[in-house]
Amino acid sequence: MAKWLLMLFDAFSLSIPCQFHPKVNSTIIMPRVSRHHIVNRSFCTFQPLSPQDALEERLILDSIAWPETPLLPSPISLEQTTDPAQSTVTILPGRKGGQWHVGDQLEVMIQTFDFQGRPKKSGGDFITARLHNRKLEAGVAGQVVDHLNGSYSAVFSLLWEGDAQVEVTLVHPSEAVTLLNRLNREQPDRTYFKSLYRSGSVSETTICNVCLRPTKQLKCNYTDLRTGEPWFCYKPTNLSCDTRINHFRVAFKQSLTLKEEKLFQSGVNQKVCIQGIGSFNVLPKEDGQLKVKSSSVTSLPSGYYYQGVWRALGGTTVSQFNSSAITQCLKGKAVHMYGDSTVRQWFEFLNALLPGLKEFDLHSRKQVGPFMSLDYENNILVTYRCHGPPIHWTPIPTRELRYIANELDDLNAGPNTVVVLSIWAHISTYPMEIYIRRLQSIRRAVVRLLDTNPGTMVIIRTANSRALSLQVSLTNSDWYSLQCDKVLKAMFKGLKVHLIDAWEMTLAHHLPHNIHPPPPIIKNMVNCLFSYICPQKHG
Ligand SMILES: *[C@@H]1O[C@H](CO)[C@@H](O)[C@H](O)[C@H]1NC(C)=O
Ligand SMILES: *[C@@H]1O[C@H](CO)[C@@H](O)[C@H](O)[C@H]1NC(C)=O
Ligand SMILES: *[C@@H]1O[C@H](CO)[C@@H](O)[C@H](O)[C@H]1NC(C)=O
Ligand SMILES: *[C@@H]1O[C@H](CO)[C@@H](O)[C@H](O)[C@H]1NC(C)=O
Ligand SMILES: *[C@@H]1O[C@H](CO)[C@@H](O)[C@H](O)[C@H]1NC(C)=O
Repeated sequence: MAKWLLMLFDAFSLSIPCQFHPKVNSTIIMPRVSRHHIVNRSFCTFQPLSPQDALEERLILDSIAWPETPLLPSPISLEQTTDPAQSTVTILPGRKGGQWHVGDQLEVMIQTFDFQGRPKKSGGDFITARLHNRKLEAGVAGQVVDHLNGSYSAVFSLLWEGDAQVEVTLVHPSEAVTLLNRLNREQPDRTYFKSLYRSGSVSETTICNVCLRPTKQLKCNYTDLRTGEPWFCYKPTNLSCDTRINHFRVAFKQSLTLKEEKLFQSGVNQKVCIQGIGSFNVLPKEDGQLKVKSSSVTSLPSGYYYQGVWRALGGTTVSQFNSSAITQCLKGKAVHMYGDSTVRQWFEFLNALLPGLKEFDLHSRKQVGPFMSLDYENNILVTYRCHGPPIHWTPIPTRELRYIANELDDLNAGPNTVVVLSIWAHISTYPMEIYIRRLQSIRRAVVRLLDTNPGTMVIIRTANSRALSLQVSLTNSDWYSLQCDKVLKAMFKGLKVHLIDAWEMTLAHHLPHNIHPPPPIIKNMVNCLFSYICPQKHG
């Protein structure tokens, strides 16, 4: 697939600094076992794809396939699912028999056991791993390899000298992942939306979604003619489809049995550490040793924290930008941010940080925007606009429902334009095809933008890990985010865009996971952003 994509985007150079490493993710699954999602044709309808896009879709779905749970007993019995409290982590001695140096890789073996204490014989658990040293504020994400027999390896690059502690986390047992996968196939409408219609004194509200179940009610088809993005509402009885005035999220329909809910218990089997190893010591780099490199099964992490500062691997150095350095960097530039609240957070961060940047009151709705900030003296413009539906916020006027691809097509860009995108958190309850198609249309727009404005810079923020409750898991579990993250990274590989690896930046950090990462992480992300926009000569 990579080769095919590279052919497709041959015209672009491959300079990818501030380290986005062109690798798929931190969880490798091999061999591929099952197909991922299958669109539920009974109530999801899509525009046909070009043969090229259809091929890409198929290859991507194959590449993110997750092992199925062999025989999911019905009803599910918790006793036979992974119990992180009984599962074990052991360090493999490595080729130097228990001595590690900076530049080596460390491998740990994870054996899973169920609640009855029996070793698990199948894979598919969603496990993450991190190596860290709290005192040094150092941390790096590990790569987890599923051996499909109940054991997993986690592989870490050793990047600092001194203590290092292994942390392995069961995010979900495989049965929970199977359920999450099934929910997207069978209930892609479990988060649901409404629109208000009004004409004169008559008003009505109807249900809307990407996939709308067939009923006797007629539908209004709001499929975007330029991008082909699907969106439907039931037709109001007494009003026409063009009287729709807003969009809002109503609720989330809880649809699991009590037994199934038991698969998502914080502190029991959801984001729980697997105990095992204390810390061990990493010795200085050996003389004559080569740089840290990836082995045959794993690739390098995209970066790591040291003294709280994100260091990218393999590419340009991440520099530290204070407010005056950022203002200097942005002089004469326009930065346009599009997407969900995780990029709006950057907009807010800049507003708070830069004394000269003042938000102009557009009388927009809180959360939704659009927002605009100006620094007149330095001719800086920063804007934010949310992405098109599905979007979970409260009432958004229909006129403000804009697809990123269309916005990019309409953008008056130039060499002083920076475009920042973030799209993941609102699109996770659907079959993956929806996300792939959304990214295909955005990518086409990015290609057109860069063709006409080669100097424009495009930066994409990837998905991040977040705190999980039952409801959050069912709508925006880290598992969904990881799958989106893999798709995003694969689809923009080889393009002249920069990625900021929010996934690893949140996984590697010691602060608790949060949909809106805390300021120290945002500061590091913003430093990455400005290291792309204004690369420093000497780091
Ligand atoms: C599972 O597979 C891995 C990799 O092939 C192997 O090293 C390990 O011994 C196996 N574990 C069991 C319990 O069979
Ligand atoms: C499609 O959705 C319906 C209704 O939720 C469900 O019964 C059916 O199993 C789904 N089909 C597939 C292929 O998942
Ligand atoms: C919705 O409209 C689009 C664009 O006109 C069209 O291609 C599609 O077939 C329509 N879908 C349905 C279900 O009517
Ligand atoms: C539509 O109009 C009819 C006639 O005025 C009225 O009886 C009915 O309640 C209206 N339906 C809705 C959903 O507003
Ligand atoms: C920002 O950093 C530069 C050096 O990198 C320093 O000279 C300057 O005083 C700093 N400004 C502020 C406001 O901290």
